[in-house]
Amino acid sequence: MALPYTLIILVSIALVAVNRYLSRKRLPPGSKHLPGPRNIPFIGRVHDVPEKASWVKFYEWSKVYGPIYKQEIFGKVHVWISSEKIAHELLAKKASIYSDRPQIPNLPDNRTSGDYLALLGSTETWKRQRKLCNHLMHSSALASLHQYPTRERNRFLYLMAKDPENYIEWIEQFTSRTVARLSWGTAKPAQILRHTTFGLLQTISPTGALPNILAFLRHVPGVISPWKKKENARHELEDRLFKANVEFARQGVHNGKGEESFITTFLRSQISDDERERTKWGEKEEAMHVVGLMAIAGTLTIGSPIQSYILAMCHYPEAQKALQKEIDEACEGKCPQWEDREKLPMLRAVVKEVIRWRPPVPTGIPHATEKDDVYNGYFIPKGATIHALEWGITRDEEVYPNAEEFMPTRWLDPQYPTYREPLTQYPNLSGFSQFGFGRRTCQGVPIVEQDLFLTIGGMAWAFNIQKKINPSTGKEIPIHWNDYTSLLIAKPLRFAFDAIPRHEDKIAEMRAMFDSAREVEQDQNDSFEMDLSAFEKDLGVEKVYGDTAVELNRIKEDAREEERQKQRKREDSGSERGGYSSSEPGLEFRDSSSEADTESTEEGSVEAAVPAIVDLDGSLIKNGLGRRVAAVLEVPGAWKWA
Ligand code: HEM
Repeated sequence: MALPYTLIILVSIALVAVNRYLSRKRLPPGSKHLPGPRNIPFIGRVHDVPEKASWVKFYEWSKVYGPIYKQEIFGKVHVWISSEKIAHELLAKKASIYSDRPQIPNLPDNRTSGDYLALLGSTETWKRQRKLCNHLMHSSALASLHQYPTRERNRFLYLMAKDPENYIEWIEQFTSRTVARLSWGTAKPAQILRHTTFGLLQTISPTGALPNILAFLRHVPGVISPWKKKENARHELEDRLFKANVEFARQGVHNGKGEESFITTFLRSQISDDERERTKWGEKEEAMHVVGLMAIAGTLTIGSPIQSYILAMCHYPEAQKALQKEIDEACEGKCPQWEDREKLPMLRAVVKEVIRWRPPVPTGIPHATEKDDVYNGYFIPKGATIHALEWGITRDEEVYPNAEEFMPTRWLDPQYPTYREPLTQYPNLSGFSQFGFGRRTCQGVPIVEQDLFLTIGGMAWAFNIQKKINPSTGKEIPIHWNDYTSLLIAKPLRFAFDAIPRHEDKIAEMRAMFDSAREVEQDQNDSFEMDLSAFEKDLGVEKVYGDTAVELNRIKEDAREEERQKQRKREDSGSERGGYSSSEPGLEFRDSSSEADTESTEEGSVEAAVPAIVDLDGSLIKNGLGRRVAAVLEVPGAWKWA
């Protein structure tokens, strides 16, 4: 097997080298090359780009070579832009040249296949799909996204309260369930969507698959290419899922039991009496892909700023206090709703600052040039890959003084260049550089805006998020400042923190919000539920987690297992004491989830005071929350559940 691989690689290298040599361009008169690091023949500077946080390296080079510079990787020209002004001048003002997308070696038909609108070249298919995407997004935004982000936020907060250590899971569930509802009117496909979508992220990320760095590997035939095999299997599953989702929505439109979604907006246009409306938005197959891409984008991205918010609050407790003060006063103690947005400029500023501080797409999604161009005397060849380096753009000190600091006030105080009035409207995310430039700007901003406003506002209302305290030293346990995953969409690496409910009333309210979201879901499922059993078998999972009750049972089972293990340890060490110490110094309570099903009177009284700590059937769900509740209630000494 080694010989064919070596041969293929050598032939590919030779072909690429000849091709590059033949296509070398002379500079147009009066123009010059862009500055940039000196290239080593053929490989360019690929060895200098770290796998982790490559955006920081590209940003460092911008300090040396300027806000626009060039780098070559295996003969391909990459242009890096770290200035919003330059990105705007090229990608927006010269959009007729700069709106193409480069080929992704590990997904070679990305520019033509029509499966993923965001990756399409500047073709008629892209224009048609973008129009449809815009229409679907606009229709749902006008209906306030059908309250789906609120319903899912209400579910999310309670899960966070119960089990904050599992925060990444709850956040990813929130984003995927919300966007699955928006796309197909049901949260059921969320888990499989996450699975296939993460696979796609690996397929297309520069660091996710080797052919994206060593492009000649794309010529390795499918039968022996591990990357092609993996991608084909993933794509096949995704295709089946999207077809099943559209079919479910189609039945819902016909039986009148389906919920609103992007795809139902499209399907309704297809059964319209108006012939023009029927044909205007193209074929069902294409709409399936457009909606699928919207679901993919929503699943992948929004978790990043939600996690970055938690990280920011651990490092900037003062910002959290200011945000809580605004919410408490403006909402009179209630959890913020989307309708409150005009009176919550600080919350909108925090949302925007989180995205600026830790850009979710730090290297941007690259554009490509369709023609040669000259910018300020610099030559940019046709076919160059153009990166608006979002990390660099957000660190431009002229626009963002003290750029490394998390400073929501930069959006609210007239002394900063980013201030804008009226504060009932600004800051907001519309037109923000972090969503791209020109004709390729992100089309999901209404979802991002509402999802982040509700989750971040909800968390600030409900919890004090803070670093953990080491019980033996009484000191804060340090957490990272900027350790992020290295795929195209960057998320903070897991860190430990405390999310302490601010008051016991909030726990009861979270429980009530959760219950009401669950009831609506249950009613919907009782009347019309999507069957995913075929997929469950394929994925080897017992039940997909779209089902809230199943998820709760899982947590409860985990808690019981944890307790069983603790019990075994206690027995092993010969201890006769039934309780254990919580992480908060001085607090101790007895946790007996396995006994909690019994209806003891004492338990009843605790339950009545803090109903959130028990599950649907009255049993304790997770030890962690017990600790938080104990802390909130300032229960002295041992606290018995049963
Ligand atoms: C925090 C969340 C998000 C961020 C930071 C983000 C950022 C971006 C960026 C940087 C681009 C590339 C723009 C360019 O090429 O100039 C993009 C494209 C796109 N985004 Fe988002 N996005 C987010 C969420 C979403 C969501 C929820 C949707 C759902 C509809 C979405 C849909 C799209 C689409 C369809 C494109 C492709 C536009 C095109 O190529 O014509 N995005 N996004």
